[in-house]
Amino acid sequence: MTQTFGSAAEMIAALQPEDPVHCLRPRAARTAAAAFVTGFPGTVMYAVKCNPDRRLLRALVDGGVRHFDTASLPEIEAVNDLVIDDLSNGQAEPVCHFMHPVKSRRAIGQAYHRYGVRSFVLDHPDELAKVMEATGRAPDLDLFVRMATPRKQAVCDLGGKFGVDGAEFVELLRRCRPLARRLGIAFHVGSQCLSPSAYARSIALAGQGAGAAGVPVDLLDVGGGFPVRYQGVTPPDWSDYFSVIDAARRDHGFTAADLYCEPGRALVADAMSIVARVELRRGDALHINDGVYGGLSEFRFEGIHLPVRRHRLGGAPDGAELMPFRLFGPTCDPVDSMPGPHWLPADVAEGDYIEIGQTGAYSTCCRTGFNGFYSDRFVFLRDAPFHGIELPASELREIAAA
Ligand SMILES: Cc1ncc(COP(=O)(O)O)c(C=O)c1O
Repeated sequence: MTQTFGSAAEMIAALQPEDPVHCLRPRAARTAAAAFVTGFPGTVMYAVKCNPDRRLLRALVDGGVRHFDTASLPEIEAVNDLVIDDLSNGQAEPVCHFMHPVKSRRAIGQAYHRYGVRSFVLDHPDELAKVMEATGRAPDLDLFVRMATPRKQAVCDLGGKFGVDGAEFVELLRRCRPLARRLGIAFHVGSQCLSPSAYARSIALAGQGAGAAGVPVDLLDVGGGFPVRYQGVTPPDWSDYFSVIDAARRDHGFTAADLYCEPGRALVADAMSIVARVELRRGDALHINDGVYGGLSEFRFEGIHLPVRRHRLGGAPDGAELMPFRLFGPTCDPVDSMPGPHWLPADVAEGDYIEIGQTGAYSTCCRTGFNGFYSDRFVFLRDAPFHGIELPASELREIAAA
């Protein structure tokens, strides 16, 4: 049973936690999901890999999400479990799409035969052969060809591993067409994409490929990548992305295609924070009990500035001056450092707690037990998501430049 508190400060006072605590704010996930479901001009699939926590999956369902981008059987099972819960509430059954371009034959077979999955993504002819064989050459498959996108269009570049382009892309579309009930094209511009035009460029490439292949395309999946507002970074509104995508699909021959997106970060980043404790202060360096091998792996990415604030048992003095700190995680690896700058009260000390906000994306799911540090403690908080404290413009510029 997950305990509920009014705020992180209330939780700290009650639990005085020895280990990091993952704080869930499901309302934020529900609100973001509702904004996508009503604003995106197509179907929203949540990218489960971003945060498979069942409490958040349920919040996304409450916000109207019914489709899920799943990458493995455990993710499909997690969504499948929701079906049982949600059917008892009289809601519609969630739909899984298997959107990992490389799958084992067993996973494909079980997804199709046991869990009723009908859409599969692929980027190689051998994967197409696997999908056909493992499903018994099923006649009701939606086959998405994963297209490569131009590199470096987002804070987290996902290119270089999956996706085909050029003649290979055209040939794969042609091969899939007669085997697919519905043929689709999928791509991913990279995570935390700050420019809506990146989607328009990729939709144009998809249109060129479909034109060269000379085959009708029924489905267009523009992937994830929709950004979150982090400290010092104000991306365009999601509505700008939606209208650029809608215009580009009309301009490039996809007016009749069913449109999908696969947001992860945008739906859940704000729905969590982590509360860690300061174990040692060494000048401007704070050693805390969570780090990049735990719930804070997103600190590895330049351009993702997770906000921090201090909590002190019994209350901290008001109005303390802020100064920049470096944070270090608990493991012995020097990689386990989060240089910041992180603006915290100058008098921060051992025993203080640091709340790191916007950890809902790629945080809890990336935890390891390296060096024996692993926390599985979760609470619900009722307060508003923690987006950051008000910092002077000069400090925000320094954060954005770091
Ligand atoms: C295929 C696919 N879809 C969707 C996502 C979610 O992306 P984001 O969290 O940037 O929205 C990812 C992230 O890696 C992905 O690989």
